Amino acid sequence: MTESIQEEDMTARASDDEGKNRKNGLYREVSPELAENMKQGWADTERRDLEPLPQTAHTARRRAEVSARFPGELLVIPAGIPKVRANDTNYPFRPSSDYVYLTGDQSQDAVLVLEPGDGGGHQAVAYLRPRSDRENGEFWLDYHGELWDGRRNSLTENEQFLGLPCRDVRTLPERLGEATGPIRLLRGYDAGVEAALNDKVTAERDTEFRVALSEMRLVKDEFEISELRFACEATARGFEDVVRILGTDTPTLERAIEGTFFMRARIDGNDVGYASVCAAGEHATTLHWVRNDGEARPGDLLLLDAGVETRTLYTADVTRTLPVDGRFTPLQRKVYDAVYAAQEAGIAAVKPGAAYRDFHDAAQRVLAEHLVAWGLLGDRSVDEVVELGLYRRWTLAGTGHMIGLDVHDCAKARTEMYVDGTLHPGMMLTVEPGMYFQPDDLTVPEELRGIGVRIEDDILVTEDGNENLSAHLPRTADEVEAWMARLRG
Ligand code: GLY
Ligand code: MN
Ligand code: MN
Repeated sequence: MTESIQEEDMTARASDDEGKNRKNGLYREVSPELAENMKQGWADTERRDLEPLPQTAHTARRRAEVSARFPGELLVIPAGIPKVRANDTNYPFRPSSDYVYLTGDQSQDAVLVLEPGDGGGHQAVAYLRPRSDRENGEFWLDYHGELWDGRRNSLTENEQFLGLPCRDVRTLPERLGEATGPIRLLRGYDAGVEAALNDKVTAERDTEFRVALSEMRLVKDEFEISELRFACEATARGFEDVVRILGTDTPTLERAIEGTFFMRARIDGNDVGYASVCAAGEHATTLHWVRNDGEARPGDLLLLDAGVETRTLYTADVTRTLPVDGRFTPLQRKVYDAVYAAQEAGIAAVKPGAAYRDFHDAAQRVLAEHLVAWGLLGDRSVDEVVELGLYRRWTLAGTGHMIGLDVHDCAKARTEMYVDGTLHPGMMLTVEPGMYFQPDDLTVPEELRGIGVRIEDDILVTEDGNENLSAHLPRTADEVEAWMARLRG
């Protein structure tokens, strides 16, 4: 929650605030003449024709679902507050995904409250920062006044934009202070709200609430599917941008690859949905290689795992493993083809009614078959290797996860609803098998050491099977080579 600044004398405050705000020059006194001058001469910019967000019908339906699940309880869902990077600079703000899911809004410091009604149901209210006051000077004297942070929607504009009543977030402490009935809070985003509700909520009930919100997001609605489709399309454009800068006879910095993809994410979307893995050569054997401080050399493979996050905050999560100079060596192709076969088996197992674990098991078995056939597991049978999990030395990770607003979406869902659950139409998940031979692994032939391959696609469960939303990007080794040659002209 924001501190109460409404009644303060901002003129007096300016000179006290030295350490916090040197940049705007307020270490100097504000004369009464200047304070008076700054109050006047501003046009009325209220927008009376603001179009509602396109997803308002969906956010209203989602709030109704939450309401039905927790009748008679006050429900509090904060967007969160910015995280401090140092002193008065923050990391870029991203609101909590559950807040976005239920409002479509992306404001910082905001809180959605579902107030239980006397006759059942809930009234949703968004508590938001209003426009900055011009009379008391906060718009220019407060470091988070609109003159510094940019114009915000007025509360009236936001009512139109979000399709729900909006109030000043500075009135929320009073509302929470007087609340008496059962309350549930989404924890982890706003320490001020948590402190205000400290003795009115319990960890156990709040965990139930968080789990319920996570599980609601398991099946995507048509708005979400269309956003995820766009995220995949934009991600494919980002991969093409990267191929165009890969040197065929000179190294390319992993940093340049990261920056190139990021530019596409900012232009077509909001951001990257997670730190891009730009892993060339032996870096590809490190699953979360995000240091990206090496270089991609001709002859090496580049494992690029990256996703564009849309402006509505849905992210793709796609991996391709590319020969930097455009042609796989026979050995690279052998490993690539094995991973491709595993991914094909995994994708084929994605269908409504299937156990969630089926696609993982199908893909991992194919990986194990190849590892056994290559003689890496002595004379053990595939069944034995699978039973004992011995193949996992080189496959390491699970084969996929839900995606959506978060790259690892719905992570708080109960096991029986997720990994021990069943696939339903509208679920969206990645299928991403890989093989990773560490550079210091003495149990594999030297030629394999330092090779890492992953192929990752975003798969929508449909009524009769699945659809690969990231299929714009080639997957077979031949297709990858032809695509790279085409892009490089
Ligand atoms: N890029 C994160 C993941 O593949 O899960
Ligand atoms: Mn990924
Ligand atoms: Mn993934």
